[in-house]
Amino acid sequence: MSEHASGPDERSYHMTPGEFRRQGRAVIDLIADYLERIEEFPVLSPVQPGEVRAALPGSPPERGEPLADMLADVERVILPGLTHWQSPSFFGFFPANSSGPSVLGELLSAGLGVQGMLWATSPACTELETLVLDWLAELLALPAGFRSDSPAGGAVIQDSASSAVLCALVAARERATRGLVGTAGGAAAGQLTTYCSAEAHSSVEKAVRIAGVGTDNLRRVAVDDRLALDPAALEAALATDVAAGATPVLVVATVGTTGTTAIDPLPAVAAVCDRYAVWLHVDAAMSGTAALCPEFRWIHEGLDRADSYSVNPHKWMFTNFDCDAFYVADRAALVSALSILPEYLRNAATESGAVIDYRDWQVPLGRRFRALKLWFVLRHYGAGGLRHHVREHVAIAQKLAGWVRADSRFELAAPVPLNLVCFRHVDGDVATERVMAEVNGSGAAYLSSTRVCGRLVIRVSVGGTLTRAAHVKAAWGRLQQAADGL
Ligand SMILES: Cc1ncc(COP(=O)(O)O)c(C=O)c1O
Repeated sequence: MSEHASGPDERSYHMTPGEFRRQGRAVIDLIADYLERIEEFPVLSPVQPGEVRAALPGSPPERGEPLADMLADVERVILPGLTHWQSPSFFGFFPANSSGPSVLGELLSAGLGVQGMLWATSPACTELETLVLDWLAELLALPAGFRSDSPAGGAVIQDSASSAVLCALVAARERATRGLVGTAGGAAAGQLTTYCSAEAHSSVEKAVRIAGVGTDNLRRVAVDDRLALDPAALEAALATDVAAGATPVLVVATVGTTGTTAIDPLPAVAAVCDRYAVWLHVDAAMSGTAALCPEFRWIHEGLDRADSYSVNPHKWMFTNFDCDAFYVADRAALVSALSILPEYLRNAATESGAVIDYRDWQVPLGRRFRALKLWFVLRHYGAGGLRHHVREHVAIAQKLAGWVRADSRFELAAPVPLNLVCFRHVDGDVATERVMAEVNGSGAAYLSSTRVCGRLVIRVSVGGTLTRAAHVKAAWGRLQQAADGL
């Protein structure tokens, strides 16, 4: 709100570096105070629809306001209107973690304010991203062919796993049709088909819609009794489509489905994809992080035969949204599908062919310096620190699975390969719903649900940055109390 001028024409309303230094400290203090008292808030916001808006002015101010007033409104209106994803008792969906080093990297990215669309528009933005993704490939023991220093592969940070699967689909579509759809449009290529399991994430369906393939041409392949994709059913679907004259474009396999963390059998799926020369994308959005630990790397067996892969550090790897690491075995396929070079972006570095221009690897042109926050996280925790917390989460989830097995009122609804426990009340959906609603309504924890074989299931996703064994134990105690009261 400051206004400083040495003459009427030199007025400036910008925040000076000095003000930024002082006010920035107040914001950091607010975040630190919030994290220190996060357990005092009801995990699920109790506000009613419209309540947040009604508590704030309907129109923007004519005169600038002091930061102190803004922070007071954050305290008064915004914090009560939040569902506290960083609460250690948030067990819904999958984690959307944050952490100190990640927030500081994000702040630095905003403060430096660079645009990394081309190598030339900020060489460090591109080169750090390439390096950090190779670091991540090493930490997760990903196939060498995905690394940017391999002959054909490479990696890029996307905003989300949804964007990653869309880019994989567009690259696969262009490879399968030799660039025909990109130039002549969808009608020129005839019927294109895509495949994923019935348990795959909805982002596959969204990508199929956006890319013009059409949801009628997405085959939701049957799953086995572990809720993992059945390769025989995949092969049958491909054979039927090819016999009918269709062109199969993409198969998406999931390592850790959203419902139950089912792990699709990559070796068998990859063998089918090889036979039909179809692009295999592996979506490991949440569970891929487990591969930090050698004992969980079995989840990636067969990944060396995939065409692309994505994992979200913004889920379980303590890096705040948005940060999806997207790897491809053939970068030329991706770049040729997405690259357009207008006159105003021409530059010597691009023309030399010696640099990566990440605008060619994603949908938008502009791009943020996301690598900073991932770099800060990897350097702050070190591989050992990351492994420690991932192991701790898996161990806590396995303990919870044991408690569920030992209580005759509950039963596990799916295998528990990693850090997600899915279970239900043996009396059926009404009882399951009631115990879950009681815990969520108490504000002490937040659980979400899904359906397995048509039956309602409680999901306890253990992966929050601040989540320790005591938090899961307390939530389980509350579920048991709610079952006592039925
Ligand atoms: C398996 C899986 N794939 C994709 C996604 C979509 O992630 P994003 O929000 O990064 O698009 C999710 C989100 O939970 C997921 O669980």
